[in-house]
Amino acid sequence: MATSTETQFDPEILQAKAETAFGALGGLFIAAGIHVGDRLGLYAAMKDAGALTAGQLAEKTGYKERWVLEWLRGQAAGGLLTYRGQDRFEMTVEEAMVLADDSNPASMVGAFNAIPIIGGIVDRIPQAFKTGLGYSFDSMGPTGAQWVEAFLGPWNRSMLVSSALPTMPDVVQKLEQGAKVADVGTGAAVALVSMAKAFPKSEFHGYDNSEHALVRARANIQEGGVSNVHIHNSDEESLPSDHSFDFATCLDCLHDMSHPHKAAEAIHAALKPDGNWFIVDVDGRDTFEENLADNPISGFGYNASLLCCMSSSACVEDGGAHGTMALPETKMKELVTKAGFTRFRRIEELEHTFNAYYEARP
Ligand SMILES: C[S@@+](CC[C@H](N)C(=O)[O-])C[C@H]1O[C@@H](n2cnc3c(N)ncnc32)[C@H](O)[C@@H]1O
Repeated sequence: MATSTETQFDPEILQAKAETAFGALGGLFIAAGIHVGDRLGLYAAMKDAGALTAGQLAEKTGYKERWVLEWLRGQAAGGLLTYRGQDRFEMTVEEAMVLADDSNPASMVGAFNAIPIIGGIVDRIPQAFKTGLGYSFDSMGPTGAQWVEAFLGPWNRSMLVSSALPTMPDVVQKLEQGAKVADVGTGAAVALVSMAKAFPKSEFHGYDNSEHALVRARANIQEGGVSNVHIHNSDEESLPSDHSFDFATCLDCLHDMSHPHKAAEAIHAALKPDGNWFIVDVDGRDTFEENLADNPISGFGYNASLLCCMSSSACVEDGGAHGTMALPETKMKELVTKAGFTRFRRIEELEHTFNAYYEARP
């Protein structure tokens, strides 16, 4: 143990802690570099282009070579793009899937739209620490809704219809024949538009209380050219409690809600007795200790929670302040069982970097 005049510390532990903090700092700046690459179309220009020098990429994009070079070096040093020697940089197929193609589930690039939003959140957050009141999704402005859409849209677009729904064969059958569907916490309605295109005989209803998300939802419905999707502001119009719905979905949203148990009860009251509820939520463990010990997503999860998910859940006086890691399998089962659902299963066939999948039935 080394000794200073004031404090005793272990230099090896100190070194490790400093490295951890420096790693986070690197993550922050690399994340900003990713967002720059996306925003300026640099990734798009590199996709399928083979190995390029900074001069070639600068010519392709119209940017200044010196700036493009520094960006390329940062990308290669950050492990995102591949350096081929002789001042040439390449975007491999796998790198393109993550950084330059939002039509596949490995796409991550949209998540970095958080970069310009985080500063505003951090400015507001001291107030939340003092009052206990958090901020709704709408407090992030229109770019907040666009960020969520860019982050979660790739999975909703590419996996929901092709891979997730087939794990519930009766749901697919109902959708093909013509079913009534509610997506609660629908955000930009990417999932609904995907389902509406695949199942034109069915009728889809999206509920959300974020005006900015609903603007994006209406735009996506129009762009998708679908006439079987209807959008509702859930603060003004609740889900009808008439047991008329065949299928409900909650995709990455229950832990963001002030009162997820009320959503669960409303969904129970809306579903037919043989209805199905598909739930996507973060794959946490039961306790903080377990998350700390063996959940690789917990560093991301608790910090995202502070800035976004728990904040949203705490945005009203009596909000539950749940948050990103709050609804692991056991708690989710408790939540849906209390709301009256008698059947609950984790859909083991579906795997994801940070989500778990469930089906509940009345
Ligand atoms: C992380 S986003 C997920 C959006 C969408 N399901 C998706 O997969 O892209 C969470 C959504 O829950 C919505 N939300 C939060 N609290 C809500 C509430 N009480 N009622 C309805 N929607 C709510 C937010 O506005 C936001 O659009």
